[in-house]
Amino acid sequence: MKTMNVAIIGSKFMGKAHSNAWKNVANFFDVPIKPVMKVACARDKKSLQAFADNWGWEEIETDWKKVIERDDVDIVDICVPPNLHAPIAIAAAKAGKHVFCEKPIALNSEEALAMYEAAKEAGVVNYLNHNYRRVPAVMLAKQMIDAGKLGKIYHWRGCYLQSWTMDPNFPLTWHMKKDIAGMGSNGGINSHSVDLARYLVGEIKSVTGMMKTFIKERPLPGAGAATFSAGSGESTEMGKVELEDAISMIVEFENGAMGSFEASTFAIGRLNYNYFEIYGSKGAVIWNLERMNELQYFSAKDGEGEKGFRTILTTDPSHPYMSHWWPPAHNIGYEHEFHHAVYDFLKGIDSGEGVKPNFYDGYLITKVLEAGIQSAEQKKQIDIS
Ligand SMILES: NC(=O)c1ccc[n+]([C@@H]2O[C@H](COP(=O)([O-])OP(=O)(O)OC[C@H]3O[C@@H](n4cnc5c(N)ncnc54)[C@H](O)[C@@H]3O)[C@@H](O)[C@H]2O)c1
Repeated sequence: MKTMNVAIIGSKFMGKAHSNAWKNVANFFDVPIKPVMKVACARDKKSLQAFADNWGWEEIETDWKKVIERDDVDIVDICVPPNLHAPIAIAAAKAGKHVFCEKPIALNSEEALAMYEAAKEAGVVNYLNHNYRRVPAVMLAKQMIDAGKLGKIYHWRGCYLQSWTMDPNFPLTWHMKKDIAGMGSNGGINSHSVDLARYLVGEIKSVTGMMKTFIKERPLPGAGAATFSAGSGESTEMGKVELEDAISMIVEFENGAMGSFEASTFAIGRLNYNYFEIYGSKGAVIWNLERMNELQYFSAKDGEGEKGFRTILTTDPSHPYMSHWWPPAHNIGYEHEFHHAVYDFLKGIDSGEGVKPNFYDGYLITKVLEAGIQSAEQKKQIDIS
């Protein structure tokens, strides 16, 4: 079987989620190309070696530029903070490597466009990991919308709510610094909702936004602070929070639908509440990551006295990806989305057709996110050109 060597850059939260997928995808899916876990790269050599040993990466390297220079690397997988996405993706594309990149695509839309252009110029497959598109229930919603089951879409209502930064002693991690993250909750989590809205409903043409930073100063982090696990009170020295904790947007889609988005890391009780509702002329769907194997569906065709939302358990072999996993009702979880993404990415390389969302989608998503910020700052509706 054809093989391709993979280099992963970043070894923490996403490094782990991606490694799991590269390692196991060929056991479950009939991949056209078998990924070989060639080299893992991160800054701290000691923890990187432990990471590589645990997941089966053959070699380690602490300088990402040396990884890109290697002739024996075919695929570069980017699992580092957003400020490094553009430099790594552009260098990788210019070196002829296919690129699998975490979201948000970059610090801003200019960088996103440069990434897209570099990948297009080099003719390499470029994938942006908005993984929630590849939840079977979400893909089923897409199939139902495309088949006309919801009719004309009137409303998108989406939110992505977490609470991990609510403690004032939670340190100032990279997620709150503009030069590393670019955006706060808007880029970190709202980008996922905007991706889903574009996938399911269509392009967004205007945005009105409002945003807040609830806690403006935080203790500086200790070494090794990472998403969700930075600990607290690691320093008495304080630093400025530079990005938004929460953003709300109301939008108009090009097809005339209305939409609302809420993204916050200050929603107490919510840990990873990624939720949407879509209402059309003939039906509606509702999905929530916390019950990711279920799609709620309302059909106006149901008989009088029998109308109501039904729950579709999306675990049948007929549902997207599910024939590769377990018997019906043996649920899948968060990590499976990454296997689906890697499988589709490998198919996109083999067929030459690429895979969505790609870097151009990332550019369009970022334009929407930037319009949200611009609108909040200028207190007016922004039309996206
Ligand atoms: N798709 C999702 O559901 C999801 C979830 C969380 C995070 N993310 C995204 O994944 C990316 C990484 O997030 P994370 O939570 O894994 O971050 P993290 O802070 O947990 O890990 C960052 C990793 O990057 C490495 N790194 C940083 N600078 C480096 C450099 N110069 N050279 C080599 N390695 C370097 C660190 O050593 C570390 O291994 C971000 O873009 C984030 O937005 C996506």
